[in-house]
Amino acid sequence: MTKVNESIKFSRGLELKNRIVMAPMTTKMSFYDGVVTKDELDYYSLRSGELGAVITAAANVQEVGKGWEGELGAYDDKFIPGLSKLASVIKQSGTKAILQIFHGGRMTNSKVTRGKEVVSASAIPAERPGAETPKELRQEEILELIEAYKEATRRAMEAGFDGVELHGANTYLIQQFFSPHSNRREDEWGGSLEKRFKFIDELVDGVTELVDQSDRENFIVGYRFSPEEYEEPGIRFADTLYLVEQLANKPLDYLHISLNDYSRVSQSDDHQGKPMLAYIFEKIAGRVPLIGVGDVRSREDAEKVLKMANIVAVGRALLIDPNWTSKIMNNQEELVRKQVSHFDREKLGLTNGVWEFMENMMADRIK
Ligand SMILES: Cc1cc2nc3c(=O)[nH]c(=O)nc-3n(C[C@H](O)[C@H](O)[C@H](O)COP(=O)(O)O)c2cc1C
Repeated sequence: MTKVNESIKFSRGLELKNRIVMAPMTTKMSFYDGVVTKDELDYYSLRSGELGAVITAAANVQEVGKGWEGELGAYDDKFIPGLSKLASVIKQSGTKAILQIFHGGRMTNSKVTRGKEVVSASAIPAERPGAETPKELRQEEILELIEAYKEATRRAMEAGFDGVELHGANTYLIQQFFSPHSNRREDEWGGSLEKRFKFIDELVDGVTELVDQSDRENFIVGYRFSPEEYEEPGIRFADTLYLVEQLANKPLDYLHISLNDYSRVSQSDDHQGKPMLAYIFEKIAGRVPLIGVGDVRSREDAEKVLKMANIVAVGRALLIDPNWTSKIMNNQEELVRKQVSHFDREKLGLTNGVWEFMENMMADRIK
């Protein structure tokens, strides 16, 4: 069985010193314009060093893709100096730095985008209160969007990151192209399952070609996806198995599922036998490393994930205990911090935005 402290080498040559990576987590700490803050540098500095890699909070590739206040920006060269500082604080003691790149699509609003009209694959609002009806992207705008992801990747390379992760999960724009709920197009970018995959297909090819044509060595490209949607129509687990089949044959360095619980079973009747993570691992059959995630709190959890994935991403446990990794690796698990209080916030670098998430997503771990 794969051990948590085993190294792993990706196909583009980058090596992680162990199997634990920090899951991408939005901090809401960036300046109003997306520039990295000192708070953010302190927060990442405190958590890196022991980990194989840190995947950053989502960084937007276009201004209109900004999903919330305090989000990292990657849509202009003006962000490169701040992103360089971010990459270098993460890269202390051999931890690798991966920038997650993202576009909110219809999951934002024109207040956050400073008046710019929200966009998506089709003019269908998300099923949530107050959602704005997005503008359907025109063909040339879709091509510009792919260029924007490529430009953000170039900036990540220039800033000294070790890779990018394409955020195709959590209902944001990449997923909106794949979903039959948000993509009702009748042109070449929508309709059948195969056509709804076209945007992802072109995006992954565009980004990986850019990286392979650059002179940066060992720079990796990963892809994150969510396995199912609840909307009707929506992405079903069988659609995701199709997606994974396509992506496993692409020149990607890893695939990364997005789950809140690694043992979650599909909602579809025909995939009830085991966790979704296990079905996906089986589908990939060793073609590309898979990152598993979702409520990993102990070494035992991490080892269970490593039976269904090659790498484990840890999010919330690292918010509470920045030294979680060394404690679980060095038989000091009894020292892992399991709860936090307001008094711990400052020393753990948990500013208001992250704390708000914590109150919503892990109230049981707040004293
Ligand atoms: C505060 C917070 C912010 C998050 N932001 C992102 C994000 O920017 N991008 C992303 O792909 N997932 C994001 N997630 C989801 C996590 O990456 C992860 O999948 C989830 O928290 C489950 O892992 P955990 O139980 O180890 O925290 C976020 C989760 C939390 C708690």
